[in-house]
Amino acid sequence: MTAALNAGTLPATTRCDRTPAWAALQAHFAAEGDGFDLRQAFSADAADAAGVEVGAQRFANFSQQAPHVFADLSKNLIDEPTEALLQTLAQQCGLEAHRDAMFAGQQINTTEQRAVMHFLLRQPAQQAGDPQQPWHDALAEVHTTLSAMLAYAELVRADESITDVVNIGIGGSDLGPQMAVLALAEFSVPGKRFHFVSNVDGHELAGILSQLDAAKTLFLVASKTFTTTETMTNALSAKRWFEAQLGAAAAPKIARHFAALTSNVAGAQAFGITTTFGFWDWVGGRYSLMSAIGLPLAISIGAAGFKDFLAGAHAMDEHFRTAPATRNLPIRLGLLDVWYRNFHGFSSRSLAPYHSALQRLPAYLQQLEMESNGKRVDRSGEALPFDTAPVLWGEPGSNGQHAYFQMLHQGTEVVPVEFVAVKKASHSLPGHHDKLLANVLAQAQALMLGQTDAGGHRHFPGNRPSTFLLLDELTPASLGAFIALQEHRVFVSGSIWGINSFDQWGVELGKVLAKDVEARLASGEVSGLDASTAGLLQKLRA
Ligand code: F6P
Repeated sequence: MTAALNAGTLPATTRCDRTPAWAALQAHFAAEGDGFDLRQAFSADAADAAGVEVGAQRFANFSQQAPHVFADLSKNLIDEPTEALLQTLAQQCGLEAHRDAMFAGQQINTTEQRAVMHFLLRQPAQQAGDPQQPWHDALAEVHTTLSAMLAYAELVRADESITDVVNIGIGGSDLGPQMAVLALAEFSVPGKRFHFVSNVDGHELAGILSQLDAAKTLFLVASKTFTTTETMTNALSAKRWFEAQLGAAAAPKIARHFAALTSNVAGAQAFGITTTFGFWDWVGGRYSLMSAIGLPLAISIGAAGFKDFLAGAHAMDEHFRTAPATRNLPIRLGLLDVWYRNFHGFSSRSLAPYHSALQRLPAYLQQLEMESNGKRVDRSGEALPFDTAPVLWGEPGSNGQHAYFQMLHQGTEVVPVEFVAVKKASHSLPGHHDKLLANVLAQAQALMLGQTDAGGHRHFPGNRPSTFLLLDELTPASLGAFIALQEHRVFVSGSIWGINSFDQWGVELGKVLAKDVEARLASGEVSGLDASTAGLLQKLRA
């Protein structure tokens, strides 16, 4: 099928630093951007819009509704001229043509000669479109696999003899399903526990195995490549444990108790797993949650819930694909990221989801953004003279307020914060949700306003930027839309920077060296090693 995808001619793009808009943005930043004050920006509105609440126009201009997500960008260090220049930058870089090339199934992952089509995983079957579309046949395969996977999920849900589902995978084969199963726990089938094993550190697997009854456990081995050391090591140990627990009865039961989620079905079969759900090389690991990798979520929330999840993501795909750039939320967020990284020089962004079920969201988005855009060369391999992915980090609120928010308010570095709030709670405990929402609003307010009438230790400089993303409810559909929003904003900044957001060569070196070091740990051979590694290795063997 991949062979049928035509590389075509990729649209011409211009690297951001070679456009006139980049120079214009530098001049604009030097003239005004550096001294921009949010408080003044809001109060300046009063003069233009007599009778209207002070700052209301700014709020209207810099907030928007996108599918399932309302976004307030008004507490960011931007004004209309800045946003207009950023939009010009996007035009001069060929952002929309690059986006359209992705949606047309062109091989925009140029270092691996692959199309990038995670959007197809949530495209309705009836939108198969023109049979000439390069992805026309791929969409049919997506739906065949989806039907099989959802039917299997329903069987597992109905099977009361299975009480524990263990996902064994790492990176994109762990973080997405783990994040989403936790986020949507409210919708989960009763009577089943979900576990996620990723680390090669045996403490993790051993701790989980000790809670399990083999006869009641389903292992899902999730790995795009089916070669990743951590996953293969954990899968082998899980299989050996299962065989040891059930003895002679184990062999015929592997097909019922082990399933593989992989694009390397042959590899899974060679490992001894015959129940398999496949996906394709055009789905990047960190973009794979809506493929077979989402099976734990499908078991948890059911086929109907999973379809809603896909529909939410599709709605955001359509928004990204068709909304005018000036009201296109992934484009606006991605351009803001560029403004902060390359003109303000902010080196990180903090994510604060004010919902405890979103506890793994920061880790999930960390991989999405930092593995996608943590690149130092452009698409042609030339070293970049400007910075790319910021560090993304965070914890759920309000916990973070009592840990690192001190630094956000009074530290020497400015860190833009992205707040995520959910209007409606799904619990009925009185008082909690109002307090939670009051806290998230107050933090955004405090970062912006500061406390400049107090001196010394009580002085808060304020003017610290934040974005506020609001979901009405945390549902499969809103989570799907939120994930697609984040995927596309990462696409936007990566595209402006002229990098390939869809490869990850940076993880290879450590993998190769680990194999060599593992052999040396066994043999004690240190010749040719640097003195530090040799010294530590000898200490570990002593
Ligand atoms: O090593 C990085 C990486 O390739 C990620 O991109 C990926 O999500 C993860 O490893 C797991 O890979 P796989 O699904 O092939 O086991």
